[in-house]
Amino acid sequence: MADRFDLIVIGGGPGGYVAAIRASQLGKKVACIDKRGVFGGTCLNVGCIPSKALLDSSELYAQAKHSFAKHGIKATGVALDIPVMLERKNKVVSQLTTGIAGLFKKYGVTSFAGTGALAGPGKVKVTLNDGKTADLEAPAILLATGSEPTPIPALPFDDKNIVSSTEALNFNPVPKHLIVVGAGYIGLELGSVWARLGSKVTVLEFLPRILPLTDTEIANQVKKSLEKQGLEFQLETKVTGAEVKGGQVTVKAEGKDGPKTFTGDKVLVCVGRRPVTAGLGLEALGIKVEKGKVVVNPETFQTSVPGVFAIGDLIDGPMLAHKASEEGIAFAEMLAGQHAHVNYDAIPSVIYIWPEVASVGKTEDQLKAEGREYRTGKFPFMASGRAIAMADTEGMVKVLTDAKTDRLLGVHIFGPRASDMIAEAVTTMEFVGSAEDIARIVHAHPTLSESLGEAARAAYFGKAIHA
Ligand code: NAI
Repeated sequence: MADRFDLIVIGGGPGGYVAAIRASQLGKKVACIDKRGVFGGTCLNVGCIPSKALLDSSELYAQAKHSFAKHGIKATGVALDIPVMLERKNKVVSQLTTGIAGLFKKYGVTSFAGTGALAGPGKVKVTLNDGKTADLEAPAILLATGSEPTPIPALPFDDKNIVSSTEALNFNPVPKHLIVVGAGYIGLELGSVWARLGSKVTVLEFLPRILPLTDTEIANQVKKSLEKQGLEFQLETKVTGAEVKGGQVTVKAEGKDGPKTFTGDKVLVCVGRRPVTAGLGLEALGIKVEKGKVVVNPETFQTSVPGVFAIGDLIDGPMLAHKASEEGIAFAEMLAGQHAHVNYDAIPSVIYIWPEVASVGKTEDQLKAEGREYRTGKFPFMASGRAIAMADTEGMVKVLTDAKTDRLLGVHIFGPRASDMIAEAVTTMEFVGSAEDIARIVHAHPTLSESLGEAARAAYFGKAIHA
């Protein structure tokens, strides 16, 4: 006989596990299925969290080697211990996955380690990792199976020399020459990690620029900064094939000046991710999929079949953990009869290189394309007392507002701790605030957050005080 629940969640990443917990908090009987056997999904197991652990460790190493001296600290004999660094990263992951297991226990979410598939209206079959099966039933089924790296046919993953971000979290020893294909989020973050740890890093990008969705002015500054850190960029470069021989990979590419080859010991392919829909049983139930994404009503997350819902990387929108979590929470609250929504206009994005890049709202490129009248306010960290004290003065804050109403339309920060600073911009946008609102907020002195106040002042009054 089938086990009955109010909600079955297939996929236990930041979308699925958060939806399961919220629905349980609201009194629903919930099952959550994940084939990984531990919860947290890509983000926690092989994505955001382990990459941030390595970004922090590698940044400390780079500081000890290159920045301590300017603070008057002599550090001799600074050396890497890669096994310890990787072990710390693994411990960070296991601490957090154990935490989710604890939350499931606390809120009474029933977990299944296995692969779930739709088996008819209101029915899910789980092929458990121990080989057994389980039949579950519920009036609501939430699909939250996330995404996987998109392969390039000319450069198929061999998980050894030609790898995805998952394997690039565990290189040991440090690659001598890492070739990165794709100058997006993963390419720049993991490229930064291994460059700081001693790899020569060459980034091959198909487009004439890096970070195609980031504000162009900011992306150009980021490129210069990363070049100073030793990353090499080959733009307008189309990868056409690869040959692995004696532990070395030779990547063939078509550059703007003709064919080129690049030889290294590892190739990281990171040209985007695609939704994981295979084996879910979508077709049999008639669930509509367009361009690989599950089609949902964005207000309710319902698919084309009543009783089946989808969130996160499976559906439209940025493939970001916090977007999936917010959708999971909104879905669970609506299931419990509450009102909920996700404001897609105010979803922050962060690239955890150093200095960090953080954005919310429209880029200047988008405003131009829309023909919208806008004002710009900028403030360089070079003029921030706190940034100077930290010896971390690269980058700027850029504020974009509606020319007539002063409403905040976008904020783009390239600078130290941009990831924390963007929260103020997100809050202001949520409250439909203006640059004047931010300019008149008292920012503690000396903090980096003053720079957002100053950029807002420049947008509203035409001038910052300190620049
Ligand atoms: P991405 O979409 O950020 O960047 C892919 C890059 O590859 C683009 O610049 C694109 O022009 C380029 N490209 C595409 N085809 C190519 C080809 N054949 N040859 C050379 N270049 C090519 O994708 P990425 O970095 O793989 O990240 C995947 C997803 O994971 C993103 O959607 C991102 O939102 C998410 N993510 C978010 C992070 C964060 O929030 N900090 C960190 C890591 C990933």
